[in-house]
Amino acid sequence: MPRHILTAVAWPYANGPRHIGHVAGFGVPSDVFSRYQRMAGNRVLMVSGTDEHGTPILVQADKEGVSPRELADRYNRVIAEDLQQLGLSYDLFTRTTTRNHYRVAQDMFRQLHANGYVTERPSLSAISPSTGRTLPDRYIEGTCPICGYDGARGDQCDNCGNQLDPEQLINPRSRINGETPKFIETQHLFLDLPAFADALGSWLQSRTDWRPNVLKFSMNLVEDLKPRAISRDLDWGVPIPLPGWEDRPDKRLYVWFDAVIGYLSASVEWARRTGDADAWRAWWTEPDAESYYFMGKDNVTFHSVIWPSILLGYNGEGAHGGTPGDFGRLSLPTEVVSSEYLTMEGRKFSSSRNVVIHVRDFLARYSADSLRFYLSAAGPENQDTDFTWAELVRRNNDELVAAWGNLVNRTLSFTAKNLGELPSAGELTTTDRALLATTEQGFATVGGYLERSRMKAGITEAVRVVSEANKYLSEEAPWKLRETDPDRMRTILHVALQAVSDCNTMLAPFLPHSAQQVHELLGRDGVLAPAPSLVEVDDLDGGPGYPVLTGDYDTGARWGREDLVPGVPVSPPTPLFAKLDPSVAEEELARMEQE
Ligand code: MF3
Ligand code: ZN
Repeated sequence: MPRHILTAVAWPYANGPRHIGHVAGFGVPSDVFSRYQRMAGNRVLMVSGTDEHGTPILVQADKEGVSPRELADRYNRVIAEDLQQLGLSYDLFTRTTTRNHYRVAQDMFRQLHANGYVTERPSLSAISPSTGRTLPDRYIEGTCPICGYDGARGDQCDNCGNQLDPEQLINPRSRINGETPKFIETQHLFLDLPAFADALGSWLQSRTDWRPNVLKFSMNLVEDLKPRAISRDLDWGVPIPLPGWEDRPDKRLYVWFDAVIGYLSASVEWARRTGDADAWRAWWTEPDAESYYFMGKDNVTFHSVIWPSILLGYNGEGAHGGTPGDFGRLSLPTEVVSSEYLTMEGRKFSSSRNVVIHVRDFLARYSADSLRFYLSAAGPENQDTDFTWAELVRRNNDELVAAWGNLVNRTLSFTAKNLGELPSAGELTTTDRALLATTEQGFATVGGYLERSRMKAGITEAVRVVSEANKYLSEEAPWKLRETDPDRMRTILHVALQAVSDCNTMLAPFLPHSAQQVHELLGRDGVLAPAPSLVEVDDLDGGPGYPVLTGDYDTGARWGREDLVPGVPVSPPTPLFAKLDPSVAEEELARMEQE
């Protein structure tokens, strides 16, 4: 029976182009996972979109002198294009400003409210004295009252992980202009997080196979829950669907409250676009459906506390009871898959200080598969990790080009030149059988790792299998047998080509672009590694149109050996990957310094 697997990918803010630190955390790992799961025969629904509300958008819109809507339109498109170029196979990559999203977010809110999990009370909100506008939590910085760390933000301290309210900060200051915020009292709506403490605790107790860092961090958060404001004094966001609130221009839902609901609204939108409006249910309300949420670690609290609380409250499964709304009983995450931070040449990524490489700039100069390879092999999966150009060049040249590219190239060019077609095998030797057993075993080993989102271990093992095949080819040296033993030469090539085919299937989740090329070089039809498309669509409910990423990923490609078909014509390959000159590292560093 195929499993239903929801791949829920963090929603990038539409406030600028994304850099490789972003795609290292949410983009590439979730795509490798989804591609593997589809090849393993499971039904994957991979959704995300741009996160377009809240202060991050307002602040940048001010900087660029445009309206928040214009800003969101601009970067929604930029981001969708970049993610497409990277080959991220979203079933739907949408945005949070669709009418569908507003409706789903408001439905969720209403049911939470009806079930008694939303309370109203006055609270302090911060105002910028110079502009009179509210200053959101994330834009206030100060000293953490719990651990004393000086760079704590108004919503959270990254040092001790505690959630904070801005007025708790010692010496608060605005991150926009340094001024001291003024706190005024207004009415706000709060999500009653303490009412979910027991349910969250027992849910987390059952999550024994999460990455240990993520589980420990999440359990700590649940130790100390306080009601959390889910309304903001803003004019940009989802209106609050309550009498007395819905017509007010200055009150909106908190951006994190609506963003996490995006996973559900995007699934609903996807279903509506397929023509079967209930199709999303198989991933959300069926008890054996699974869901994997991919993000960087600064998002963990929102996915292991806030989002599960919203789901529990909607279901009526917190301390106040209640009943599920029209969506039915919605499932909590199977796993919150969080990565750690990527730094850039020893420093924190910073667009303003140009310590950054944007996805677009990278792809203008180098290939998507080269970046995907690097991030899979050397990304911040389990610990903070530094990106360096020198290491990118090394991995590209030594592993991608010298090991994998070279195996493909020498096997196929020798075959094309001497045989012109895929050869059949004669009797196999022990060595032949050993290599075929190694590549066959690779499917189980690499698959096992990818099943657990262990991309690093998975790609390392695939590269090891590639080097076994290279070793086999060098030792068996078919080129020496052209005259003396052409039959044996054909057998060796058959085995080597079967190994190329196996390795290529194993690498397809990581390297979809080159995997498709090799698939075609082997004379195969159809699609091994499907590509996402960027499509202009109408808003389903009469709003303005927008671009989405989507695709038909059900190509029938399977995780496992596909037997070579002798007699299929083979033409000489063009190189799969470009070798990078070592000077690339210096050039890129210089570019970073100067701009
Ligand atoms: N926009 C947020 C960020 O970049 C991530 C939102 S993830 C979601 O940190 F789940 F809330 F959508
Ligand atoms: Zn702290």
